[in-house]
Amino acid sequence: MKLKKLKIGRTELPGNLLLAPMADVTNLAFRLLCRQDGADLAYTEMINADALLNESRKSFIKGLNSPEDRPFGVQLVGSCPKKLREAALFVEEEYEPEVIDINMGCPAKCITGAGCGSALLNSPELVRKIISELADALNTPVSAKIRLLGKEEKTLEIACLIEKAGASALTVHGRTAAQMYSGNANLMGIKAVKNELSIPVIANGDIKDEESAKKTLELTGCDGLMIGRAAMGNPFIFRRIRHYLETGEKLEVERQARQLEDFEKYISLLEKHNLLSSINLRMHAHWFTKGLHGSRHVREKINSLKDGKAITELMRSSCQEKY
Ligand SMILES: Cc1cc2nc3c(=O)[nH]c(=O)nc-3n(C[C@H](O)[C@H](O)[C@H](O)COP(=O)(O)O)c2cc1C
Repeated sequence: MKLKKLKIGRTELPGNLLLAPMADVTNLAFRLLCRQDGADLAYTEMINADALLNESRKSFIKGLNSPEDRPFGVQLVGSCPKKLREAALFVEEEYEPEVIDINMGCPAKCITGAGCGSALLNSPELVRKIISELADALNTPVSAKIRLLGKEEKTLEIACLIEKAGASALTVHGRTAAQMYSGNANLMGIKAVKNELSIPVIANGDIKDEESAKKTLELTGCDGLMIGRAAMGNPFIFRRIRHYLETGEKLEVERQARQLEDFEKYISLLEKHNLLSSINLRMHAHWFTKGLHGSRHVREKINSLKDGKAITELMRSSCQEKY
C-alpha cells in the first residue's frame, strides 16, 4: 500500500504518520528522534497561551527554532479566543511552524478547571470563536485535536463547526474525556467524524504496533494516524509501522539493542540542544528500558541515582554492554 501524503492547508507532509503532542515528552530532542525514524509531522507539548503571553516569551518556549525540526506543529492550550490569537500570532511570527493546533481534548483537571482542553467541547460557540479568530488572523494552517463526546451527534456537531470555522485538519482521539485513558479507542466514533468532514481527519488512540495501525487506518478511513504513548521510549515505531503499511511485512529488529541505541541518541540530542536539565531524565530513561531484558535491574539502579549525569553514564554503559 502506498501511504497517503497528508495535506494540512497549504502544508503538504511527506506522509501521514504523526507524533502526538505530549506534555513532558515531545520536547525538541524527542521530536528529532521520532523524525529520524520517519514521523512525518511532530507536535510540541501543549503550550499554555496565557502563560506564554505573561512570561518573557522567547525564554518561555524552549527548542522551537531548530531547522532540523521540520515540519512541526505547535499546540496551544487556552480558552480565550483573543489570547489564543495573540499567542498564535507570536508563535507564527517567531517560529513559523507548519501547523498551529488547539488542544480541545485534554481531560486533566488542572486544564479543564480553567475551561481549557476538553472542557471547550461543552461550549460550541467558544470553539467556533477560537477557530475562526485564529483561522482569520494566521497564515499558518490551524488544526484542532478533540475527543469524542458522549453522544455521536454532539461529536459530529462540534467537528462540523470546527471545519466550518476554518480549521484545516482535525485529530480525533477515540475516547471521551470522562474515559481519560480507560477502555479502548472507539474507531467507529472516529470513522463517523471522518465520514462527515471534508478536511483531513487524523485518527488517534491505541495505535501501538503494526496491526493496530493498519486496523485504525482501514476501519476509520482516516487521512492520517497520530501516535502517542507507543512512541515513548520507542521512536522506532514509526519506521516499523510505515514499513508494514507499505509492504505488508514486519521489520526484523533487535529490540534491546535498538532501544538502547535510541536512548544514547536521545541523550546526545538533549545535550546538543541544552535540554538535559529541563526534563525528568529518570522518567525518560524508564520508557527507553521498558520491556527489555534485565530492565528491572537497570531501573532500580536509575532510581538510586541522584542526577542526570549519573543516569546518563549508567545508560551509556548499558548501551555498550547491552546489559
Ligand atoms: C504523557 C502524555 C502527555 C500528553 N500531553 C498531551 C498534550 O500536551 N496535548 C494533547 O493534545 N494531548 C496530550 N496527550 C494525549 C495524546 O496526545 C494522545 O491523544 C493520547 O495519548 C492517545 O493516543 P495514544 O493511544 O497513541 O497514546 C498526552 C498523553 C500522554 C500520555
